[in-house]
Amino acid sequence: MTVGASGHSPAAYDVIVLGAGAAGLFCAATAGQRGRRVLLIDHAPEPGRKIVISGGGRCNFTNIHTAPDRYLSNNPHFAKSALSRYTAADFLALVESHGIAWHEKTLGQLFCDGSAKQIVAMLLDECAKGGVDLRCGQPVGAVDHADGLYRISHGAQQATAPALVIATGGPSIPKMGATGFAYDLARKFGLKVVQPRPALVPLTLPGDEALFRELSGVSTEVIMRVGGSKAAFREAALFTHRGLSGPAILQISSYWKRGDTLTAQFLPDRRDGWLRELKRDRPRQSLRKTLGEGLPERLADALRERLGLDGELGALTDKALAAAENRLARWPFVPDGSEGFAKAEVTAGGIDTAELSSKTMESKRAPGLYAIGEAVDVTGWLGGYNFQWAWASARATGLAV
Ligand code: FDA
Repeated sequence: MTVGASGHSPAAYDVIVLGAGAAGLFCAATAGQRGRRVLLIDHAPEPGRKIVISGGGRCNFTNIHTAPDRYLSNNPHFAKSALSRYTAADFLALVESHGIAWHEKTLGQLFCDGSAKQIVAMLLDECAKGGVDLRCGQPVGAVDHADGLYRISHGAQQATAPALVIATGGPSIPKMGATGFAYDLARKFGLKVVQPRPALVPLTLPGDEALFRELSGVSTEVIMRVGGSKAAFREAALFTHRGLSGPAILQISSYWKRGDTLTAQFLPDRRDGWLRELKRDRPRQSLRKTLGEGLPERLADALRERLGLDGELGALTDKALAAAENRLARWPFVPDGSEGFAKAEVTAGGIDTAELSSKTMESKRAPGLYAIGEAVDVTGWLGGYNFQWAWASARATGLAV
């Protein structure tokens, strides 16, 4: 029985999904198409707002190189089951079935040719096929569990279902409606939360690195590494007025902890010994010109200044050139922080996977309670991996509820 705002008995559903973002929409559609009566609620006025702004408005909706080792989690095995049962190819087939044109940009990243709004429209269409009852602009109030049913209040209404899915994401970009609601709810039902932290986020440099801040806007390809981790990303790094950004930095930021040293390998195609070889071939060439051949001029000058070397290659000792090669291949940066949740593309940490079934995402402690998408302690690399996790985890739950 479905009841309106009059305060009679609550409306009864099979599944209530909280959060109409990537994961919530796909989970609701999957469950709805299996004949489940699904209520999907979001406090934002429209569904899928992060999808709309993602990928510069073209939504990098998946990555063809999706693999579990491209995700961070306290339990690196957790994501394997869901990712293997719903793959990038599966999502691509859905995109194609809706006639959405797409292209691969770089590193396996798939984008819409047109607009990210097409992905939202596709998900809404899939929800409509499943008869999903979607309610936006509805703050979720009390959530309780009794007699095998979850009961929630949303706006002036109430609803019950034996299954409740937490799909309210993480707190990154609060101005988009992102909240820590998922964690509060999880804790209320006895689930643990791995300390959430901003990820895929620009990093800030302390005052003594001011020289690099003067390079604001300069970008170059590097291999970024962080002490103590095997992670290495060959992509562009960008100097900003606050520190470092660009894909290489966003990627490594997910692995960075306060106090860790980042190392940038500038000129990543140069072999060990390259400056000394060049000295023999072109002794009259200046170091300035040499660095400027592979790096933006302002950056080449800043690095040379920090190396404390100048003049023609022939006038520099092999020892000094070897030290310069070494420094350029392992240039240390010690960030003093990140730009925080306000600028983080995702949140790392979240609902502890130890509390969830990797097959269905159901809580072991609170039967009927599920958590999917970014709310869970599974965080992908930059490049479509986070949406693929949203789709795969949503699918796992949508098929189980
Ligand atoms: P998502 O955040 O999508 O949805 C959560 C929903 O819950 C929201 O609609 C929110 O309004 C709602 N909600 C929150 N609190 C609530 C409450 N208390 N009550 C009711 N509703 C509530 N990833 C990728 O793979 N490719 C890309 O191109 C990009 N690009 C990108 C750009 C930018 C600017 C950002 C910020 C992020 C990306 N991402 C991305 C990451 C990607 O957007 C993210 O991983 C997914 O949206 C996560 O999907 P979820 O459904 O879990 O959360």
